[in-house]
Amino acid sequence: MSKPISEKPPYRAVITGYGSFAPEKTLTNEELAKIVDTSDEWITTRTGIKVRHIAAEDESTAFLATEAAKIALAQANLNAADVELIIVATITPEMVFPSTASFVQRSLGAKHAWVFDLEAACSGFIFGLSVVQQFIESGRHKNALLIGAETLSKITDWADRKSCILFGDGAGAIVLERGDNKGSGVIYSTMHSDGDCWEALNCQAYGSRHPANKPLDDPKKTYMQINGRQVYQQAIRRIVETVTNCLEHCNLTIDDISMMISHQMNARIIESASKRLNMPSEKVFVNIGDYGNTSAASVPIAFDECVRNGKIKRGDIIILVAFGAGLTWGANIIEF
Ligand code: UT7
Repeated sequence: MSKPISEKPPYRAVITGYGSFAPEKTLTNEELAKIVDTSDEWITTRTGIKVRHIAAEDESTAFLATEAAKIALAQANLNAADVELIIVATITPEMVFPSTASFVQRSLGAKHAWVFDLEAACSGFIFGLSVVQQFIESGRHKNALLIGAETLSKITDWADRKSCILFGDGAGAIVLERGDNKGSGVIYSTMHSDGDCWEALNCQAYGSRHPANKPLDDPKKTYMQINGRQVYQQAIRRIVETVTNCLEHCNLTIDDISMMISHQMNARIIESASKRLNMPSEKVFVNIGDYGNTSAASVPIAFDECVRNGKIKRGDIIILVAFGAGLTWGANIIEF
């Protein structure tokens, strides 16, 4: 006779280490205004961004990812050789193949891990967390290293003022380890996609539609292209919907949540979504001013800063939420 399916998984995925890393070089709004027709005032009021970090020529996505991972592993007191799984969420991989995670594994000396990249744009870290959650809750793995890392500056059209003001480079990482199902850990994850709206945000060059052996019909296809207005409206709607559904599923209210850490795509989007959710501003972490939009890296960088600034503490219930290209969106509820 088959065993009854347990309602509650036997384990929880507990965050035991966290870290982030950004390139030293920065680009302020004032500096950008010397490159394209824009101003600090326009960028600040429309996005909340003041400065972003820009990778040097020899700073690749795997380099940033490795630096963030080293900090997270040290904090978790976990040897790289004991890591069982590494996932790198990114849309700016080291190369077409092998995966960015392969390079991170090599740099860390994580000999016993199996590794892969996850491509879900700005929702990559949220999706990755749900994957790790499954492997740890099922008992298949004792630990995992999850990284969000991007060098978006390398696919930015620095002549397009509608997009170049938005993006920046960086990486964030967390270590998750197996804990019992009574204490802290990831409580619930939800993920969604809508391929019908793929054109809203894309970078088309050198995939199978535009192979490297054929001249590009439009050289701009090597860069990110965005329909800002379309993304803006959808992002607010989906964040509100996802957070509301997550809370309902977990039988929680806004009062139970200590902090919402959203993907940092635009301070106005985060503010509008929070207002619609009736989430007080002190429960909403925003650091886009210092980084711009770092896609898959933005949630783990924000998480790292939030903890280090003492804005969340062990035992707090937090919600991570993101929206991005695909389209993709999702959220994780975590008891930290
Ligand atoms: O993580 C997912 C990826 N993130 C996104 O896709 C971002 C989502 N969207 C946004 O954050 C906003 O839509 C933007 C910040 C990109 C744009 O803000 P907006 O309020 O939606 O501006 P808009 O595109 O409607 O443009 C308004 C005006 C236009 O001028 P006209 O046609 O009204 O004369 C633009 O040409 O602002 C002009 N404009 C600028 N002016 C100065 C556009 N970009 C700039 C700029 N500086 N950088």
